[in-house]
Amino acid sequence: MAKMKLYYSPASPYARKVRAVAIETGLDKKMDMVNVTLTPVAPNADVDKHNPIGKIPALSVKGMDLFDSPVICEYLDNQHKRRKLLPRKGRDRWVALRLQAMGDGLLDAALLARYENSLRPEDKRWNDWTHGQMKKIDGVLAQLEAEAKSLKGKPTIGTITVGCALGYLDFRFADHDWRSRHPKLAKWFVAFSKLPSMKTTAPPSA
Ligand code: BEZ
Repeated sequence: MAKMKLYYSPASPYARKVRAVAIETGLDKKMDMVNVTLTPVAPNADVDKHNPIGKIPALSVKGMDLFDSPVICEYLDNQHKRRKLLPRKGRDRWVALRLQAMGDGLLDAALLARYENSLRPEDKRWNDWTHGQMKKIDGVLAQLEAEAKSLKGKPTIGTITVGCALGYLDFRFADHDWRSRHPKLAKWFVAFSKLPSMKTTAPPSA
């Protein structure tokens, strides 16, 4: 059977989610990795062919293209016989999906702030915009600290997403000292970062 093909970049936290899920589920062995370079202002023609939104991650499988990361992760979780990363029912399912939403929400704000401060021409940068995005990031961090107990246990799609989000903060917002204000979250992240799936997918200079 033809292998799946994942379009990714080593710096993309959304692609990291998919890579970590692939490792946790053993599906990484059935996946060819296509490392691509792109930004919102310098799209990648190959990615455009597989995702009309022009973003990574995109997964080509069985003649179909899947995107974005929650959809790809759910697809992968349906293709293996190990413990499910997205619990099928009950409260655990909603805890995992809610954590995924918080991690993705943090990342959405972080990416908007990153683009504002690295891609937008310097004379056009808007401080209030960046401040608004950083406030969203801090809101998620505060909520995760308040419910740090919900992060405990075996990895789920929720905790993998939160782990990738915190990893991205360290990668691109190293000056944002989130640890001192969120000690429980920081302690959880130390332990979670030791998972082989997180170590293997860590961003380039983290
Ligand atoms: C980054 O370099 O921060 C990045 C690259 C690809 C996707 C998202 C972020």
